[in-house]
Parts: sequence; C-alpha cells; structure tokens
Amino acid sequence: MFVTVFGQKGGVAKTCTSVHIAASWSLKQKRVVLVDADRNRSATAYGARGLLPCPVVPIEAAAKATRSAEIVVTDGQASSNDDEIKNLVEGADFILLPTTTQSRSIELTVEMSQMLRKYKVPYAALLVKVDARKGASADQASELLQQFDIKVLKARIPLLSAFEHAETEGVTVDQAIDNRGRANPRRMTGWSAYEDACQEIEDLYNEHSDASQIVSPIVSPIEWAA
Ligand SMILES: Nc1ncnc2c1ncn2[C@@H]1O[C@H](COP(=O)(O)OP(=O)(O)O)[C@@H](O)[C@H]1O
Ligand SMILES: [Mg+2]
Repeated sequence: MFVTVFGQKGGVAKTCTSVHIAASWSLKQKRVVLVDADRNRSATAYGARGLLPCPVVPIEAAAKATRSAEIVVTDGQASSNDDEIKNLVEGADFILLPTTTQSRSIELTVEMSQMLRKYKVPYAALLVKVDARKGASADQASELLQQFDIKVLKARIPLLSAFEHAETEGVTVDQAIDNRGRANPRRMTGWSAYEDACQEIEDLYNEHSDASQIVSPIVSPIEWAA
C-alpha cells in the first residue's frame, strides 16, 4: 500500500503525520519505509538520529529501498502544480490530507480535493493540531469538509507540545519527554490517535480495493528483516 501525505504548505503537520503513521504500522510488524519527497528533507532530519522504527529514505533512493516494503508512506512536497499532483496521485493508493481547524487550512483542503477528485485514488482529510479545549471547532471543521464531500477520518490528532518535544528528540510522540526530562503525561493520546488513523486508512483502502476488485497487497505480518 502506498500512502502519500500531502497538501498545503509548511506547518500543517505533514511530516509529523508521515512519521507517526509510518512508525505506527512499523510497530505492528509491517515492513514500512518512509519516503521523504519534500525538498526540505524534514522527514530525513526527523529520522537522522536513527531512533524511528522504520527507515527514512530520500525519494531519489526510494526505488531500491522500498522493494520489499508492504507499506510505503511518502511525506509529499506541498504543490499545486498539475503535473506534480498527477504523478503523485498516480503513485499512491491512498492520499491523506492533514488539515487544521483553521478556515484557511480547510479552504486549501477543499481546493486540493477538487483537484484530486478527477482521479480514482481514495483520499481523506485528517484533522490535526486539534485543541482539546475547542472541541466544537473540530466538529465544525469536520462538518464543513463533509459538506464538500470530503471524507474526514474519525481520528483527530490533538494539539500537544509532546509532538514538538518528540521531533526535537527524533523520536515518536509516545517516547516524548518534557522540558524537565520526564515522560510527557499526554503523549499517549497523540500516539493512539495516529494508531486509530492508521486503522481507518487500512479499512478505507480495503473497502476501495474490494470495490474495484483489486487484490489487497497488505499481506500478513512478517518481521521486518533488518
Ligand atoms: N499535533 C501536534 N501538536 C503540536 N505540534 C505539532 C503537532 N503536529 C505537528 N506539530 C508541530 O508543528 C510543526 C510543523 O509540523 P510539520 O510536520 O513539520 O509540518 P509540515 O511538514 O506540514 O510542514 C512542527 O514543529 C511539529 O513538531
Ligand atoms: Mg514537512
């Protein structure tokens, strides 16, 4: 399965999302490779300490590195260039659009979805950086996206400082420690939200494959040969 995380410009949590879904599948014993297709190479920088559970490779090295992968997660370059989008979509089985609850972010996801609609690849929005104190705004964002016929994952990624701490340390959020060096108490809510998102993506992908009668390439868990 090829999952591409894509969408608008900097800061919407594309890299954070790519890292966490790749790591989550990886810990479920799937052979996962995270491909860094962003010119800024932020996923590569995130994984540079070698503390992520899956390899991170630049797009130029992806062909060989992904040869035996079951799941390839691509941290995509933000783009509105038609050709780039076409290539990206044709190379994906599922496209994930991280979206915040801010109206500009929702607008951009709606625009992106209008471009993606021409293709048959399934896609969904994932609400990220959701402030727990503003639950209503996430509900509104979700409703708005759905009014534009955009599938929105039920999983919502909470806004947590633990994500920033994790990135600084080069680990996933479940391993995050706070400024005083203590395990961040809310870290697991962030981690389990990404686990839930992965499950939903697999289900949507399988539904879509069944509908188009493609045999699912997700095979039973096999240990990732290091
Ligand atoms: N759920 C979250 N809560 C808090 N901070 C987050 C969350 N997700 C990502 N971040 C932080 O937001 C910043 C931008 O995220 P990043 O994944 O690099 O975005 P993008 O790849 O879209 O540019 C980073 O500092 C990251 O640690
Ligand atoms: Mg990025």
